[in-house]
Amino acid sequence: SKLEKFVDELPDMPKIQSFEVVNGVYKSKPLKIGMYKKQWKFHRDLPPTPVYAYGASKRNATIPGPTIEAIRGIDAFVKWQNHLPSNHILPWDPTIPTAIPRTNKGIPTVVHLHGSIGEPESDGHAQSWFTRGFQEVGPTWTKKEYHYYNLQHPGNLWYHDHAMGLTRVNLLAGLTGAYIIRDREVEAPLRLPSGDEFDRTLMVFDRSFRTNGSIYMSFTGNNPSIHPQWQPEYFGDAIIVNGKAWPRLTVRRRKYRFRIINASNARFFKFFFSNGLKFIHVAADSAYLEKPVITDEILLAPSEIADVVVDFSNSKSDSAILGNQAAYPYPTGDPVNEANDKVMKFIIKKKPEHDTWRVPKTLVKYPHADLSCASKTRYIAMYEYTTSDDEPTHLYINGKSYDEPVTETPKVGTSEIWNVINLTDDNHPLHIHLGLFKVIDQTELVKEEEFTACMMKLNDAIKCKIDQYARGKKIEVPAHEKGWKNVYKMTPGSVTMILVRFAYIHSNESYPFDATAQPGFVYHCHVSAVFLEQIL
Ligand code: C2O
Repeated sequence: SKLEKFVDELPDMPKIQSFEVVNGVYKSKPLKIGMYKKQWKFHRDLPPTPVYAYGASKRNATIPGPTIEAIRGIDAFVKWQNHLPSNHILPWDPTIPTAIPRTNKGIPTVVHLHGSIGEPESDGHAQSWFTRGFQEVGPTWTKKEYHYYNLQHPGNLWYHDHAMGLTRVNLLAGLTGAYIIRDREVEAPLRLPSGDEFDRTLMVFDRSFRTNGSIYMSFTGNNPSIHPQWQPEYFGDAIIVNGKAWPRLTVRRRKYRFRIINASNARFFKFFFSNGLKFIHVAADSAYLEKPVITDEILLAPSEIADVVVDFSNSKSDSAILGNQAAYPYPTGDPVNEANDKVMKFIIKKKPEHDTWRVPKTLVKYPHADLSCASKTRYIAMYEYTTSDDEPTHLYINGKSYDEPVTETPKVGTSEIWNVINLTDDNHPLHIHLGLFKVIDQTELVKEEEFTACMMKLNDAIKCKIDQYARGKKIEVPAHEKGWKNVYKMTPGSVTMILVRFAYIHSNESYPFDATAQPGFVYHCHVSAVFLEQIL
């Protein structure tokens, strides 16, 4: 039976502050956040679903988890605690490099704070996993309490599981949540919509359910002759916002701010409003833009964040549906259908209101990306190895797998130019830990097959004369994505030039932690969170 849309109210996730105010001064307040197996109602007419949820307690655990609020400059300390029983609720894959505890002592998990510029011991390295009560820990595990410095610019981050080989199932089971770093000095003068009512996080993902309510993930491979279980991407047929399938929200005729996080494993969204309402972008991923950018649609890859103001006083109708029109896989897969072409519904009150919020002409200015300062140029090519009948099997970077030794060793405080060459058929959202980057440009390759054939042989873009192939047409980088990002969409058949900065974007201060104290940070494609390679 089909689930009726727009019957559940949009929930707000509980907020947890990592600070307290003592005599007018901010102080750190250490937190304990657990991972619990519990039941979650995704829809009025769907039986409760077994999930893994983050929360201050089992009772308070939610899908997504609580929104952690931090203050810039005030350290946050979180004891992430695993309370999960041993049998996974989803079919994980024992044939890939994966975190498997030696005995039956729980499910490996580790928390990554996506967008954080922080110490490696608290980055959620894929091999720093731990099980229930820390009974088993991964080879690079070092500490029980994570330390987030929050010294970076204010903005939107999110936390999610990052355990080796289990990330996709742990995320699907529910292990995600939002994290906001606030900075009054920078943000108060902007007078953007604020407070619980007008400033909301929308965490969007797709899931499929069985009629008994449990999460459905196919256990059969797309092509069993390659692997009995492999499906490179997960697509669900219900769209979930803040833990409810196709919810609705009643809004007043005035401005709201929505921090929209795509927490899907593989689904891209191309959001638009059914009644033509516009999005005013104020930030992208974790960083404010210099100037607001108005668009009719938002293309959001897995793990990207769009931070927008929507002014409902401009609405010509009393309701608006937030729609989606991104093919899946993006861009060459199936077109959207009735199940996934709608996200949620806004019911707009009739009475016009006087609005005290603004969207200023200039937001926050960070130093420009200076290409001449780049200390190194790297070429990073992604291509698939295929079987004789052209079925993709393994996706590597420059011919190397995740298990091979660290390849990129940038120095703290420097910037580098990375040319990322996507020779696959899919768009890959590239995410880099520890550094933010600016997208300089994106250029289509000419004679891509010839270049790919060379790469398959030599694994070296320079030897394969990349300059002779990177000569096609330029693909426009949208204005709202020209600021500092931590994820960007690598268009198939193109080379994307980015300037990566391994330093804070707002100051020249060095990191207060040793970025080399652990086996490195990763950069990877965020589709089903396949880990590709490490950087140090
Ligand atoms: Cu959103 Cu390496 O992660």
